[in-house]
This record gives sequence, C-alpha cells and structure tokens, in this order.
Amino acid sequence: MFQINWKLCMFTISNVIFVNAISSITSTKDLSTLQLVQIISRHGDRAPIHPFPTDVYRNASVYSLNGWGELTEVGAKQVYELGVYLRQRYGGFLPRKYLKRDFLILSSDVDRAIMSAEANLAGLYELGPVPRSRDIFKEWQPVPIHTIPEEDDNLINTGFNCPRYKTLINQYMNSDELKKLNEDNKEFLDFIQKKSGMETVATLEDTFQVQDALRCQRFHNLTLPDWVNNTVYDQLQYFKSLSFTWKVATEEMKRLKVGPLLERLVGEMRAKVDAATLILDDEGFSPYEDASAYRKMYIYSGHDSTISGVLHTLNLFQPHIPVYAAALLIELHRKPDTGEFFIEFYYRNDTTVEPYRLDTSAVCGSPCLYESFSAFASKFIPMNWNQECQLQSTQSLSPSSGAPRLLLMSSSSDNGGQDLTLSAMHPLGITAPGLLGFVLAVIAITSLLVSTILLSSFLREKQRAMQYPLNAYQHLG
Ligand SMILES: *[C@@H]1O[C@H](CO)[C@@H](O)[C@H](O)[C@H]1NC(C)=O
Ligand SMILES: *[C@@H]1O[C@H](CO)[C@@H](O)[C@H](O)[C@H]1NC(C)=O
Ligand SMILES: *[C@@H]1O[C@H](CO)[C@@H](O)[C@H](O)[C@H]1NC(C)=O
Ligand SMILES: *[C@@H]1O[C@H](CO)[C@@H](O)[C@H](O)[C@H]1NC(C)=O
Repeated sequence: MFQINWKLCMFTISNVIFVNAISSITSTKDLSTLQLVQIISRHGDRAPIHPFPTDVYRNASVYSLNGWGELTEVGAKQVYELGVYLRQRYGGFLPRKYLKRDFLILSSDVDRAIMSAEANLAGLYELGPVPRSRDIFKEWQPVPIHTIPEEDDNLINTGFNCPRYKTLINQYMNSDELKKLNEDNKEFLDFIQKKSGMETVATLEDTFQVQDALRCQRFHNLTLPDWVNNTVYDQLQYFKSLSFTWKVATEEMKRLKVGPLLERLVGEMRAKVDAATLILDDEGFSPYEDASAYRKMYIYSGHDSTISGVLHTLNLFQPHIPVYAAALLIELHRKPDTGEFFIEFYYRNDTTVEPYRLDTSAVCGSPCLYESFSAFASKFIPMNWNQECQLQSTQSLSPSSGAPRLLLMSSSSDNGGQDLTLSAMHPLGITAPGLLGFVLAVIAITSLLVSTILLSSFLREKQRAMQYPLNAYQHLG
C-alpha cells in the first residue's frame, strides 16, 4: 500500500517539476488580445519514404515497425512535445477541457499526419497525472480528428487531384531554368546514380529518394555510407530545400496548390471578425449561429509541403526543409483601443527557443491588419478551384454555383440551409385565363424572376461571407 502511494507521489512530483521546467524556458505570452489561433504543423519523425538500392538499412523496422513513411516513436514524442508547448503557450486562452466549439483539428489522410494529430492532442488536452488503472478518462480525453480523403484534399496534402496543377508542375520541372540546374549538376547526379545503385538519376528530383533516406539515417544516428561526406550530404539537402519553391513557383501554382487553404484560413478569421463586429442583420443571419464564430483554435496536421507552400505564397519562405513537428502559428488579435484585428505569424522550427516572429511588413504591413492580409491572400484564392483545375465537373452538385467550396465540400448532403438559392427559384404555378391574366402573369413572373436573381445573388454573397467555414465543418464532421 505504502509503496504504491509513494510511487504515485513521486510521479506527481516529477510531473510538476517537468511542467515547471518547461514553463521556465518559456516567456509568458500576452493573451489578452488573442482571438483565434490557426496552426499548420508537420508530422514527427518518420521512416524513409523508400530506401535506395545500395541502402544497407533496407528493413523499415530499423525506424518504425509500421513500415516505410510511417511515424516513429521518436516522431510521436516530438509532436506530443508540440502539444505540451501549445498548452503552455495558449493555456490561458484554450480551456483544458475539450469543447467542440472551441477547437477543430484537421489532418491529411496520411497515417503519419493522423498519428501526429493524436500525439499532439495527447499533449494539448492532457488533463493531469491520474493512475490509468483508476480512471483513464480523468487523465485523457478523446478528441475527434477530422481528415480529408486524399482525392478531395485541396487543403493539406495538395496538388494530386488538380489536373491543371499537374500540367504546370510538369512544365516547370521541364523548364529551361530547371534543365540548366540539372545540367550544371550533371557530375553530381552521375555520382549519386552510381553510388545509390538507382537506375536513373537524371534530375535533381531523382536524388530526393536518396536525400530522404540519408536524412532519416542521420536522424536515427545510423552510420551513413562511406561515400556520403558532409559536402555530399549538404548538397542533397540543399537541393531538396530549393524544391519546395519549385512546387509553388508561379502565381497560378500557388492559387491551385495553396489557395484553398488560404481561403479557409481567411474565412475562419473573417468569422471571428464578423462575430465581433456584426449583430443580427435584418435577414435574420446571426454570425453566432456559426460554430466558427466561437472557435479558438484550428490545427492543420500536415506535411513539410503544407508549411512551405503557405510560407512561399506569403513570400516568407527561405529555402529550408521544415523540421519534424515544425509549426506555423497564425494568431488573430484585436486591438483593445481601436477594435482593429491584426495577425501575427510565428514559426516554431526549434524546440529550444521561443517561436520566431515572422516579419510580415512586406505582406500585410506591421502590424498586419486583417483587411490587408485578406486583400493580399485574395490574389491567391481561386473563384472556382474546380474550374481553374480543369476538373471534369462530374463531382459538381450544382452547376450554377460559382463557389468552389460548396462543390468540393458538399459531397455529403448534410448541409442544411445551403439550398436557399434553389428553393427561392421554385416558380409559382400561376395559371391565368384570358389576355389580361396572361399579361399580368408575364409581369408577375418577370418581376419574380428579377427579384429571385437579385435575392439569390445576395444570398450567394451571404453564403460566401458567412457560411463557408460552417459548411466545411459540417461536411467534415
Ligand atoms: C525486418 O526486421 C524485423 C525485426 O528485426 C524482422 O522480424 C523481419 O523479418 C525483417 N524483415 C525483413 C524483410 O527482413
Ligand atoms: C541520436 O543520438 C542523440 C545523441 O545521443 C540522441 O539525443 C537522440 O535521441 C538519438 N536519436 C534517435 C532517433 O535515437
Ligand atoms: C566529398 O566527396 C566528394 C565525392 O566523393 C568529393 O569530391 C569531395 O572532395 C569530398 N569532400 C570532402 C570535404 O571530403
Ligand atoms: C527557424 O526559422 C527562423 C525564421 O525563418 C530562422 O531565422 C531560423 O534560422 C530557423 N531555425 C532553424 C533551426 O531552422
């Protein structure tokens, strides 16, 4: 009896010390102006995507028992640590008790991203040290993790389902600029081909399989092949870090690959701004009915390319490979005196220091006002993503809708209140005998049509402005 209590006591004490140790390296963040936090994170350490032919570590279990590309135990700890940090930074803002309306986490449909979301939540929503045998739900709470099927994902793991984007990236990879870069490094490519045993290493892109496997080996303290000195290693990593800019090299590529996520981020911010600045309007729309008006935090559990895509689109990307569990923290604040909303961007790419505040003065000014950011982002937000992607419209629910989000997000019909446009258009079945009746009917129908068109375009604006986050949320829920 005594022994067990003593152990529990030690466990509690060590936990307190652990938590205090973390707080002592972290300055207290002023949360009084904070309105919303949006986080884009990378998964934790994983096994290589694929070994190369001469790789001596050809068994994925060296890294993870689950196979190539899967999250490792170390990786899970990294993201757990991110969750603990987020609790520490935002504890005064986000209640420790999970409430649906406060929080939403959305993951790409890739195992390592979903598992990272779980590990992150374990840190963020941990309740405290209670022995499991007694009651696990006093210590741990289930929190739903939403995912987007790969074929629908234009937010987190993007680019695969957009034909136009595929054409553009192919064009770019075959552009004179890239051809020259490949030619200039021909000797290096031949060297990698010979040593890795790969059949063809004709382009820098072909080296990434080797680059990735070596990076994982080094991270796991494995002995690298003898042909890999620091120069070779760094050169491989350098080209990989450049490649993040190739993926979103042009404005059109940014629109297609990153635009929908930017639209969503801005929409989530707008819901907060609207909720604070609008009261019920005469149409009876209340922003407070929208779950996103209450939301305090969103987490997007994704990939290196998710982070680099957003950073590069905002002109904030300096070529690098985002580290495991890297996180972009986007904070919406409100000035107490003027009521203006402004945004701060932080990049957590190093767990030993506080996140770096990114300089957004060239993007949206300093402070970065919500309106300026929204105006900047709008350049990259497609009016109709389906159309710009040149997708066959077989998925479309309503060909008249100009809003891509509705088409994309509404593959389930669980979207009450979205068919306003359609129901408003139902013509009344007036039958009037005689000429006068006919003329009156024409006048009535014409004015009905005109007002319907006006009303429906008004409602569509309304939907655009107010309901996007809600629709997306409902579909994904
Ligand atoms: C990989 O390693 C595991 C554990 O060491 C072993 O059980 C398994 O048979 C190995 N697989 C292959 C294909 O060699
Ligand atoms: C590699 O070695 C370092 C230093 O000993 C250690 O801190 C780290 O945890 C090791 N990495 C892995 C993945 O085991
Ligand atoms: C690293 O290896 C490459 C290829 O073998 C060689 O050309 C280079 O001189 C080496 N660099 C150093 C610093 O040893
Ligand atoms: C992290 O990002 C900041 C801001 O971009 C940069 O200055 C810093 O060198 C990066 N640190 C690491 C370890 O990559």
